[in-house]
Amino acid sequence: MTDNSPLPVGAFTFVLHGAGGDLAKRKIIPALAHLAKSGYFSAESRIIFAQREALSPEEALAQVDSFLKAAGDEAARESIPALLPYLHTLQVVLGTPESCRAMANAVTGSPEPVVHYAALPSSRFIDLINCIPTVRDPSRLRLVLEKPLGFNAKESALIEEAVAAKLDESQVYRIDHYLGKQAVQNLLALRLGNRIFEPLLTREHVAHVQITVAEDLGVEDRAGFYEHAGALRDMVQSHMLQLLATVAMEPPVSLEANSLRDEKLKVLRSLKVPQVTGIPEIVVGQYGEGYVKGQPVPKYRDEKGVAANSTTETYVSFRTEVQTWRWAGVPFLVRTGKRMPRRFAEIVIQFRDVPKPLFEPVGGQWVGNQLVIHLQPEDKLELKLLAKTPGERERLKPVSLDLDFFNTWRIPVRDAYERLITDILRGRLGLFLRRDEVQTQWQFVDRILNDLKSHSMEPVPYTSGTYGPSAATAMAMRAGAIWSEDGL
Ligand code: BG6
Repeated sequence: MTDNSPLPVGAFTFVLHGAGGDLAKRKIIPALAHLAKSGYFSAESRIIFAQREALSPEEALAQVDSFLKAAGDEAARESIPALLPYLHTLQVVLGTPESCRAMANAVTGSPEPVVHYAALPSSRFIDLINCIPTVRDPSRLRLVLEKPLGFNAKESALIEEAVAAKLDESQVYRIDHYLGKQAVQNLLALRLGNRIFEPLLTREHVAHVQITVAEDLGVEDRAGFYEHAGALRDMVQSHMLQLLATVAMEPPVSLEANSLRDEKLKVLRSLKVPQVTGIPEIVVGQYGEGYVKGQPVPKYRDEKGVAANSTTETYVSFRTEVQTWRWAGVPFLVRTGKRMPRRFAEIVIQFRDVPKPLFEPVGGQWVGNQLVIHLQPEDKLELKLLAKTPGERERLKPVSLDLDFFNTWRIPVRDAYERLITDILRGRLGLFLRRDEVQTQWQFVDRILNDLKSHSMEPVPYTSGTYGPSAATAMAMRAGAIWSEDGL
């Protein structure tokens, strides 16, 4: 039996709030359908689509199907009918007493745990939480909250207070889908299951660390959300900081959820806020027109729903430091942006050079050793070493040792949402964020946003199809780094 064989989960009720929304149709419903098709769900389980429109289960699935057809996601379409045996629908307009009653009726007598999944804008979270009964028992009630939780630390704290008034922390699953990616779990295994890398991941050996999430897409049809969010709130606040915390944390005492979260929290608390004045440690940008994959694309300000004078950042890169004994002084360079030449995400750990070079580098430039964790599109590890070139001369050239996880296991990579949903149903909290992590992440991002604002720093334009403003290259060079553009 492989790891991918279904290990069915016990009966449950899963209420998907915002079932008519983009995220639900694009990610959550296909993940549920694929799990249903793969045999994870027992017959008594119930999935309830809660949405504004009054729809029958068949109509709701037909809507999802046409959405996926338009998105060209044929693979997801194949699984959708597998949901029908479990599916119920509920018309809900949150914020009304009737909707609370309707929600309560819909789950009366249904199998427990009842999972309320908020695939909603966070401005609706409190309305939803107000409808949830006070039940402090994770075997009976669980709540799933999608990121971003609020738009700043203050809003997030208000939501958290409402949650804490009804539920215990052990019932709350705060999603960052990056933690559901197999590559992130491989990163944990690489660090904590192997002896050879961990002793090297220190300030003595590491010159710098780069974390990149590059996207080729633009804002698409999400301007309503993105105009208020921007790359700092949308990507840095959770995905980028969680990747950073995972690579920099100390080994936890166990893989139990709170051990992992304790260690990540220490990293988040020790992050240096990048300075915006003097020699800047942060660059914000906004895409202009250009070409991506050979196709002309408009500038951000010309996208549907975007203000003609918008100052929303679609790109951010910054230099930070994890101010701990292990990492003090090592630059951590973080970068994310839309409309880059291609979609890729990776973590590059650049090691220091040998103390006294005895060989000659080919090309005259030392590149040192690198450990590259490719998160997407491929899930692989690459160790860049220096090897002697054949012949008499004592010359070294970089070569790569590659470990491609797909070629190793030959099992299709499961979508992050599938992994996260099975964990929610099994009651495993390890891949979800704790309240204090989210709060610390917001404090970091709020500080940056306030500093940018108080120094009137607006995003600089960059050409679509490039890796962002040139100021970011200079910032990396000051840290002794050249941004990786591999994205293999
Ligand atoms: C989401 C952001 O959380 O992550 C999007 O809201 C972004 O703006 C997406 O495109 C990236 O996720 P992935 O899995 O495609 O890298």
